[in-house]
Amino acid sequence: MPNAISGFSKLTKSEKIEWLLDSYFTDKDTARTLVKRYWNSDEKLQKLHDEFIENTITNYYLPLGVAPNFKINDTLYTIPMAIEESSVVAAASKAAKFWLDRGGFKAEVISTTKIGQVHFIYRGKYDKLERFFENVKTKLISDTADITKNMERRGGGILDIELRNKSEDLDNYYQLHATFETLDAMGANFINSCLEQFATTFKTEAEAHLDEDLNVVMSILSNYVPNCIVKAEVSCKIEDLKSKDISNADVFAQKFMQAVNIAEVEPFRAVTHNKGIMNGIDAVVLATGNDFRAVEAGVHAYASRKGKYSSLTHCSIDDGVFKFWIEIPLALGTVGGLTSLHPLVKFSLEMLEKPTAKDLMQIVAVAGLAQNFAALKSLTTTGIQEGHMKMHLMNILNQFEASAEEKTQIVDHFKTNIVTHSAVVEAIEKLRN
Ligand code: MEV
Repeated sequence: MPNAISGFSKLTKSEKIEWLLDSYFTDKDTARTLVKRYWNSDEKLQKLHDEFIENTITNYYLPLGVAPNFKINDTLYTIPMAIEESSVVAAASKAAKFWLDRGGFKAEVISTTKIGQVHFIYRGKYDKLERFFENVKTKLISDTADITKNMERRGGGILDIELRNKSEDLDNYYQLHATFETLDAMGANFINSCLEQFATTFKTEAEAHLDEDLNVVMSILSNYVPNCIVKAEVSCKIEDLKSKDISNADVFAQKFMQAVNIAEVEPFRAVTHNKGIMNGIDAVVLATGNDFRAVEAGVHAYASRKGKYSSLTHCSIDDGVFKFWIEIPLALGTVGGLTSLHPLVKFSLEMLEKPTAKDLMQIVAVAGLAQNFAALKSLTTTGIQEGHMKMHLMNILNQFEASAEEKTQIVDHFKTNIVTHSAVVEAIEKLRN
């Protein structure tokens, strides 16, 4: 175990690496070579990545794949996806193609507002606090003028501030609960700056006009955005579901809907069901430089909004029409943050024809819906492993350092044989002997 180190962040990149090698690695040369192999030879590009975070030692690659043929509201998109899981891009592409022939996806942004809160403790009378808040509300907003002027010029800004009494949940706890419109920006910095200004003004005014102390605990945006909602759907006549791997469209539609109904009522299934949706969502969120942790947190909170964790997608069969849809909260940005910094994020956004935040919300929701459609289609027909293992085959071959020639022969062999880990190992050994 190494000794604790102080001033680590002030060391140069090479010094940090040498400290790590001395502290944790027996074969230092191999570890050093590995770390440096992932450095980009373009020094400017490497410096850009180094400076995204603190203590960067190298780059951690994820594949950037693309899923073509997504028809969304009659526009054709090729969707960028950054993800390590082997079957995700293939599944998205398959679902896109399936629905391309059946009218494509329809998507609609329902609402776009975001929330931020100043949390504070106040031990005085609530009616006094209420009166004080009503008197100071205009000043809370006017004191943020420098922060909000650009956003307001573009049509966004602070929509409202409410005083919320939370003292039944926690003694003496109150909030300023503010609503924002941040247009094409995800808006975290904008919202947090406004909130910190609210807190300063509120505290100063309270010191002058309230008898009791008012203590601000913290000011921060909420990643729960139940009023920043997008809906995406597909629908077709049941008989049109018939395809190469769906011979009986009626049976398929019923079984598919049962699978969705199960995820609506059974949390153990709902978590996995929604995880599959997030396979699609996170991959696009990451490729477009957005914060997938914020999206994950908000989406799962939304999935629990009725007091029980449930499916994010829904399905109906009415008058012979199959309909499948998703409704999710997504706070995304297409300007600011990484969107103008990371060259591959810029590339991804250009590929999506420079979307507005609303366009991106629709694209991301569709990616989630498509992913869920592909998963449920496999689960309710062939089972998931057939497709998964076919895609995982290359990972197993790479683990065994198979040559290009070996890969071609083994992939060929498994076109007509079931892929399991042991079957692949056996095939490699047979070929090598
Ligand atoms: C695997 O990453 C995702 C699935 O488990 C989703 C699902 O079960 O619906 C296939």
